[in-house]
Amino acid sequence: MATNQDKVKELIDLRNQAKLGGGEKRIESQHKKGKYTARERIAMLLDEDSFEEFDMFVTHRCNNFGMEKTKFLGDGVVTGQGTINGRIVFVFAQDFTVFGGALSEMLAQKICKVMDKAMTVGAPIIGLNDSGGARIQEGVNSLAGYAEIFERNILASGVIPQISAIFGPCAGGAVYSPALTDFILMTDQSSYMFVTGPKVVKTVTGEDISTEDLGGAEVHSTKSGVSHFMVENEEEGISLIRDLLSYLPSNNLEEAPMMVCNDPIDRLEDKLNSLIPDNPNLPYNMLEVIEAIVDQGKFLEVHKRYARNIIVGFCRMGGRSVGIIANQPSFYAGVLDIESSRKAARFVRFCDCFNIPILTLVDVPGFLPGRVQEYGGIITHGAKLMFAYGEATVPKVTVTLRKSYGGAHDVMSCKQLRGDFNYAWPTAQIAVMGAKGAIEVLYGKEVAAITDPEAKAKFIAEKEEEYNHAFANPYKAASYGYIDDVIEPRNTRFRVIRAFQSLQTKRVTNPMKKHSNIPL
Ligand code: HXC
Repeated sequence: MATNQDKVKELIDLRNQAKLGGGEKRIESQHKKGKYTARERIAMLLDEDSFEEFDMFVTHRCNNFGMEKTKFLGDGVVTGQGTINGRIVFVFAQDFTVFGGALSEMLAQKICKVMDKAMTVGAPIIGLNDSGGARIQEGVNSLAGYAEIFERNILASGVIPQISAIFGPCAGGAVYSPALTDFILMTDQSSYMFVTGPKVVKTVTGEDISTEDLGGAEVHSTKSGVSHFMVENEEEGISLIRDLLSYLPSNNLEEAPMMVCNDPIDRLEDKLNSLIPDNPNLPYNMLEVIEAIVDQGKFLEVHKRYARNIIVGFCRMGGRSVGIIANQPSFYAGVLDIESSRKAARFVRFCDCFNIPILTLVDVPGFLPGRVQEYGGIITHGAKLMFAYGEATVPKVTVTLRKSYGGAHDVMSCKQLRGDFNYAWPTAQIAVMGAKGAIEVLYGKEVAAITDPEAKAKFIAEKEEEYNHAFANPYKAASYGYIDDVIEPRNTRFRVIRAFQSLQTKRVTNPMKKHSNIPL
């Protein structure tokens, strides 16, 4: 009969066995691919010795294809809780060494359990994905398992932050769990996401395409926008997740943690007074403005390489977490188009879900005109951004630096979309459109009637001058109270922080409803 000491030894042996996942050979093969194992990833992610594992002894219960003879403790996913910078988080890491991390009924149950715990406690859930998708031997049980996870992703949306790192394959319907989360991060050259892989693409469409070109990190960070962050390697990815979480509250009922601010709140940035070129058609880099006004110049840009005509990301101002949305004049003149509208709308909604105040920096010449945009539904996508801003109840401060034209003026957090403080620099131009377009519409017939080219140019120049005098400034808008104050650019940091300070106790609620019907 086994002694109690034997039983303790058995436990230790079983734990050690579970820690080996699919065995040493497969761990070696994982390392050879330049990838870490599930447990190594969790150890890097969490504060030292903070990991508490759940369900180490779970095994699958599938008897198809001789599966009953092959069981691994833990069954292809490592789950549990731990801390990041002292704050509790829940985590699951798919273990590629066990059936390629493929999702079984029991594997899904483990993920669901940790997600449920995260929801009960109100703490972020982080998924580290590296899986061959549905475990083929388990058939429909695997699909049901995925759907259980999807439903939890949906219910957790807007309640706890959900972050997905893709550190290997993520294919088929498996992509939809990450897609339902708030942020996706992909490692360059070692991760991929697609609904159907290159072989199916070849069969169905005849197109030859590599895994990387179809769903690599580069593609999803620049073309599709599926991935919010692209990183060189797993270490960088893990450190980014830790950094990202520092800007977020643990749940929708909390505020993001306040940091000690060593950067003077009233720091003046003289260079901002001369940043905007005199010629309104010349670009400048909006990132310079952002870096000048945020604490320590530190800005975590989201979707950095996607829809670069708009910038979104997190910073701190006076120690408090703030989400920034800013037009980027140095990329397509900062125009709003389908991609930039979608990108910004999603970010605004994330900030609003999690009580993160929003700073909007405006320099927008309008919406991108043309057939491609209209056929692509710019009306709906632009409305999405307007909807997101108008619905948001978090503190909203807007600074118009230069152009703010037409529909784009309204969309970019204007006063009437419940902007709390709307400031403008003296270089702001708030109008229905730019002078050139306006004169063409207003004086088209007169211009056409002038035959002498010199006289025509003179007439246009005079009218443009007249128009610019009337509208290419912030004072018309300020005279109606649409702009609360015209501020000296160098004071921007101080004015914005003070505005957010006064908004700390802001309480606004939307009318009761089941949910809104944002134009999707
Ligand atoms: C069962 C799987 C598996 C799967 C991999 N394995 N994928 N087992 N079900 N889906 C096993 C392999 O048999 C192998 O077992 C081990 O994992 C490692 O796989 P390898 O092929 O040796 O690794 P590698 O060469 O790196 O290739 C990885 C891979 C490939 C590209 C992911 O395994 C692959 O193409 N797998 C199938 C992917 C797929 O089509 N999945 C279904 C997608 S549809 P041994 O014992 O040899 O180590 C889907 C629907 C979800 O997921 C729907 C949700 C709504």
